[in-house]
Amino acid sequence: MLGELIVFEGIEGSGKSTQAELLLQHLQGGDVPVSFAREPGGTILGERVRDILLDASGPRMSPRAELFLYLAARAQLIREFIAPKLENGERVILDRYVHSTIAYQGYGLRINLVGLDHAENVEAVTELCRQGVGEFWPDTVFLLDLPVEEGLKRLKGSPDRIERRDRAFHERVREGYLALAETEKGLFTVIDATLPIEEIAERVRVGFELA
Ligand code: TMP
Repeated sequence: MLGELIVFEGIEGSGKSTQAELLLQHLQGGDVPVSFAREPGGTILGERVRDILLDASGPRMSPRAELFLYLAARAQLIREFIAPKLENGERVILDRYVHSTIAYQGYGLRINLVGLDHAENVEAVTELCRQGVGEFWPDTVFLLDLPVEEGLKRLKGSPDRIERRDRAFHERVREGYLALAETEKGLFTVIDATLPIEEIAERVRVGFELA
């Protein structure tokens, strides 16, 4: 039987990486092996692709090129990391995965894949994601939701290529995530990311009883 794939999603500054780390520490106290990776990244190829994707002064990149780079990094992560661990019955925690692509490239960029209208484009991106991951769709997604303004205020350092996009882009990403959570209700747990860190962590831990 496949192990469990647990994913943290959210807009910039939502605190998902902190929560992924806290859940990792919690689950490390249990009997089931657990590991963590971030997306894009988690493999040598994936980290290089990440550098290209996030480099604010990098080469020009069309929306399609961007989409396929995210998918390429993911394909490698699945082959090297996700598939072997899940096939071994282990738990994998991911900081971003397929729903980032649907929210950012589908809803945010409104990528024009085949000249269809927007709703169908989101479907086309979703379909590419499904084909890309095969049987490794998430089992649980925690969506840390907060207003875009709050999230952007929390960012530190010089903004990367994606963080630099205008406010309207980030609003579409947030709305996209909320729409996804609504359509895949059984998969998503939406948590108010303005709550204190420990309170969010407690909500995440519900349902992860240690053996
Ligand atoms: P982060 O690890 O700091 O969240 O940075 C990853 C960035 O990449 C973030 O801006 C979201 C973006 N992203 C996409 O646009 N599409 C994707 O499929 C993934 C995984 C990330």
